Amino acid sequence: MSKPNVKIFDSKSDLIDSSVQMIVDLACQKVDENGRFTIVLSGGSTPKPIYEKLASEPYINRMPWEQTFFFFGDERCVPHDSPESNYGMADKAMFSKALIPDENIFATQDQDKDPESSAAQYEQTIRKFFKTEKGKFPSFDLMLLGMGPDGHTASLFPGSEGLNERQSLVVANYVEKFQAYRITMTFPLIDNADNIVFLVAGSDKAQVLSEILCSDKKDSYPAQLVKPQAGTLKWYLDREAAAKLDPALCCS
Ligand code: 6PG
Repeated sequence: MSKPNVKIFDSKSDLIDSSVQMIVDLACQKVDENGRFTIVLSGGSTPKPIYEKLASEPYINRMPWEQTFFFFGDERCVPHDSPESNYGMADKAMFSKALIPDENIFATQDQDKDPESSAAQYEQTIRKFFKTEKGKFPSFDLMLLGMGPDGHTASLFPGSEGLNERQSLVVANYVEKFQAYRITMTFPLIDNADNIVFLVAGSDKAQVLSEILCSDKKDSYPAQLVKPQAGTLKWYLDREAAAKLDPALCCS
């Protein structure tokens, strides 16, 4: 079995710099090839400085903002102005600073009022954007994913029903430990992306990463269930997160 494609950066700031460069390069390439770039943003704390850097010099002048379309891999069921909101975080860090047409930003709606219909509505929004008929899965150019210390990714948490969803693009997934719903893209949609990149930083992720990338434990964690159909899967890790990895053994 081929070794996972893992890039280990000496520091979190190196991971951030390389992630920003990767996003700008891919955005320009896709706009050259297809006239547009579609990106799925991850939430949580790790990507925030990446979004901030994209919307600052010199990258703010290099990103093809007008041809870039933003979606969210998952969202917390809170209002957009909540400090918990992934949309709110991306808006403060990037959307509010860069010249991005409002119609290029696709956030979930009413997630704090009715998670089920919010998920269904977001699925319709994605199908309409890609003109994808029912039963088929569109392909995003870039899918950014994070990972929690419990091995969850997007809002696909261990033991949650959303792990088994194979039809829908987006579901309202009940997360026991939060006693709350989350809106999340599903594995079939994630797996259909052209480029999937995990952004993982911090020592609290080291143990689960070593089990995911270096052990015989197969499909034990949600992050392990991400299996690209035709695209590529890369892991961008900082030294702390990679502390328990044996690169020679398990990284290409
Ligand atoms: C979310 C995320 C989630 C996140 C991980 C890692 O909404 O919380 O999308 O999947 O990526 O929890 O979070 P940190 O980057 O904060 O460690």
